[in-house]
Amino acid sequence: MIDLVEKLYRNNTLSKEELVQLLTGMESSSRDHLIKKAHATRMHRYGDSVYMRGLIEFTSYCRRNCNYCGIRSENPRAERYRLSLEEILDCCRIGSELGFQTFVLQGGEDNYFTDERIVEILESIKEQYPECAITLSIGEKARESYQKFYDAGASRYLLRHETASRRLYEKMHPGMNLDDRIKCLQDLKKIGFQVGTGFLVGLPGQTVMDYVEDLVFLQELKPHMVGIGPFIPHQHTPMGHEQGGSLTDVVTLLAIIRLLLPDVLLPATTALGSIDPLGREKGLKAGANVVMPNLSPTKVRTKYALYDGKICTGDEAAECRVCIEDRINSAGFTVDMARGDHLDWRGLS
Ligand code: SAM
Ligand code: FES
Repeated sequence: MIDLVEKLYRNNTLSKEELVQLLTGMESSSRDHLIKKAHATRMHRYGDSVYMRGLIEFTSYCRRNCNYCGIRSENPRAERYRLSLEEILDCCRIGSELGFQTFVLQGGEDNYFTDERIVEILESIKEQYPECAITLSIGEKARESYQKFYDAGASRYLLRHETASRRLYEKMHPGMNLDDRIKCLQDLKKIGFQVGTGFLVGLPGQTVMDYVEDLVFLQELKPHMVGIGPFIPHQHTPMGHEQGGSLTDVVTLLAIIRLLLPDVLLPATTALGSIDPLGREKGLKAGANVVMPNLSPTKVRTKYALYDGKICTGDEAAECRVCIEDRINSAGFTVDMARGDHLDWRGLS
């Protein structure tokens, strides 16, 4: 197995068969080696920097009905809220005072936020913080809408493919279709966004072959960012009684992704920190190089409840900023407040 890890480290690619072999034959010694190589690759490409993104969860309304998600439309107990333009700008002001240069606007697919309203938000943020990078994460839209968002100042877009297994995708996303999701990702790339995708780990019924599909998909799409995290059950969803994803599986997959896409921007996610008190630190040591502290107002934090046991729901933005910096330092890394563009993007706006 060490041979396969070495091959992946040297060539940054493996065949489908080799990926199956790597994932099925992984024991703790080969995992340790894999993590060491992922760390070396990250140090070589990005040094010990960890890029900070200020996350603004601006709406908990969603027209979709993903079976795992706490804010799915058919959860009548989900608490719904929308932030006003002023509230969003206030989050950016607080974030900017704390040094953030990237704002991630995330929400459910909320029809209230028409293209015009999103454009107004983007233009207002850009007017006040012209140097900042804005990332959008608001789901599937028409190509024309994505183009309007890009023209209004968004330069990055996060849209996880969630799982590249057609069987699982259809089971988890009533009324949705993997091809539509992939088309969105391709549209975003063509427009010129830095594109982030990613997948859930530990969905009920998810197999090694499914992860291999995910990895092959990533190799083909070559996204600039990859967000992966454990599935965590939410009690008021159809999957509330299922078992969640494991830390070991997420960390292993993070390390493999770092080696497959050496320049990728790879977050140690809040979900990873929610299943293990040192989850994000372990992710950083396995090749992750981004964290996304929460800038949403504390009054709405608990309402953006995608899963049970979400961390950082009670802290002010400034407290989150300090807490995360301590964690990053204790894991042996340094906070980097720069925009943190993908290496292919340096020098471009
Ligand atoms: N609506 C946008 C979209 O679909 O891309 C963005 C918001 S969505 C809530 C953000 C991410 O939350 C999803 O891509 C999904 O992977 C993750 N998520 C939702 N429910 C989750 C759960 N129960 N456990 C872990 N992650 C979850
Ligand atoms: Fe839409 Fe989760 S079902 S954000």
